[in-house]
Amino acid sequence: MEELIQRIKKLEEISEELEPTEKQRENYHHQLLEFSNGFINTIHERNSFLERKEPISGLEVDGQKKSLEKIIGLYNEKVTPYGINPASGGHIGYIPGGGIFASAIGDYIADVSNEYAGVYFGSPGAVTIENEVLDWMKDIFGFPRSSVGNLTSGGSIANLIALTSARDHHKIKGEKINKSVIYLSPQTHHCIDKALRIIGLEDIILRYLELDESHRVKIDDLQQKINADKKSGLNPFLVIASAGTTDTGAVDPLFEIGKTAEENKLWFHVDGAYGGFFILCENKKHLFRGIEMADSLVIDPHKGLFLPYGTGAVLIKDKTAVLHSHHYTANYMQDTIGTDLSMSPAEVSPELTKHFRGLRLWLPLQLHGLEPFIACLDEKILLTEYFRHQLMEMGFEVGPAPDLSVSYFWYPYKKGNPDEYNKKLMKLIHEDGRIFLSSSTIGGRFVIRMAILSFRTKMKIIDKALEMIKDCSIKLEEGKAVIKN
Ligand SMILES: Cc1ncc(COP(=O)(O)O)c(C=O)c1O
Repeated sequence: MEELIQRIKKLEEISEELEPTEKQRENYHHQLLEFSNGFINTIHERNSFLERKEPISGLEVDGQKKSLEKIIGLYNEKVTPYGINPASGGHIGYIPGGGIFASAIGDYIADVSNEYAGVYFGSPGAVTIENEVLDWMKDIFGFPRSSVGNLTSGGSIANLIALTSARDHHKIKGEKINKSVIYLSPQTHHCIDKALRIIGLEDIILRYLELDESHRVKIDDLQQKINADKKSGLNPFLVIASAGTTDTGAVDPLFEIGKTAEENKLWFHVDGAYGGFFILCENKKHLFRGIEMADSLVIDPHKGLFLPYGTGAVLIKDKTAVLHSHHYTANYMQDTIGTDLSMSPAEVSPELTKHFRGLRLWLPLQLHGLEPFIACLDEKILLTEYFRHQLMEMGFEVGPAPDLSVSYFWYPYKKGNPDEYNKKLMKLIHEDGRIFLSSSTIGGRFVIRMAILSFRTKMKIIDKALEMIKDCSIKLEEGKAVIKN
């Protein structure tokens, strides 16, 4: 026994390393603060994009201890300079995130206290915080409080949960799969296709709807396709609308789609991962009329509420449908049974143990109030208008006025192939890196996309983007451009 005690004590001594002393913690805090101040204070001076194709060495895990100073040094040297700088306001490609500072405080507290936010029994307080945030969202989007909500890692998993529930509500399995039809826009985000494969609906029939000149689905086409499918003995069961398309910033006619879904007994799903929170803008509210009719809705706080990556959300009205695939019990968890099932995140999502991600949203909302978030969204809409106007002044053509803050442009090059010209321009912009823009193909045309959503994107950033585009265009026009492959 004495030997056993000695061995435990020896191990205790070594493992104590994992519990820094107060003095060490203070030292860590000091270094952490230095890092975050250095990072944030210089964010506008650094490029928004630097491509790096060569592998990065020096980040190998060798099992040896190092000082925090050295580790942060490595991070500064090897991680932050390369690729897109997503925290920068100069990220106006893809769908920007942002990463408000208050969320980092929320994450820090969540990680130090390590509350178990998977089941109510484990941390009633943490789960209540998550459910309060979800109730707040239900109120915003006109969903009844009885709806189920879940905070996910992002829009992809949120869509996965919603589509699984739609599948289970309509009992789409076995032979029914080949005969069942989903109606959606060609602009629907590809995570929907991924989700359908994951949930066994790869062989379902997808009907892509025609779009109007503003990239919104045409409601007549939806009704006609449903009628034709019913006539052919097929099983229309789901319509997917976008409240903000990724490529074109369009909001589909939600009210009309909702009515059509209701009349034809289809599940109505809305993907508002990018655009949903623009409902908070007074002069955009009208676009979201009918969102409250949805059976399920996805919204991403790590997009429209400027949170750091890792927070999406889903709201679903039919609790039974959600529980069908997501509720499970295990003998070792018998103590946790007895609370309202949908109160626990683990009952309504594929996750059991999860990051307590609610705190990174709840804390900033409590700390700042809602007003600056709405102002930021309004600002993004106006900056989009400003950017498009200035581009047109420079001779660029732009896509239709977007409903929200994603748009696209191209140079109508006359002396050769415009697609080739714009591809070269895109490459030069990426090589320049002052501001990050991305490209897409819309209506068969190569276009440069702008997605204005970061809370740090301000007018001076748009001016910098315009200056960069002008410099790159001049280089291209004068044949001075050396484009790397
Ligand atoms: C409309 C839309 N839906 C879903 C997603 C996927 O979300 P995530 O990247 O958070 O998984 C995106 C991402 O940009 C999106 O724009």
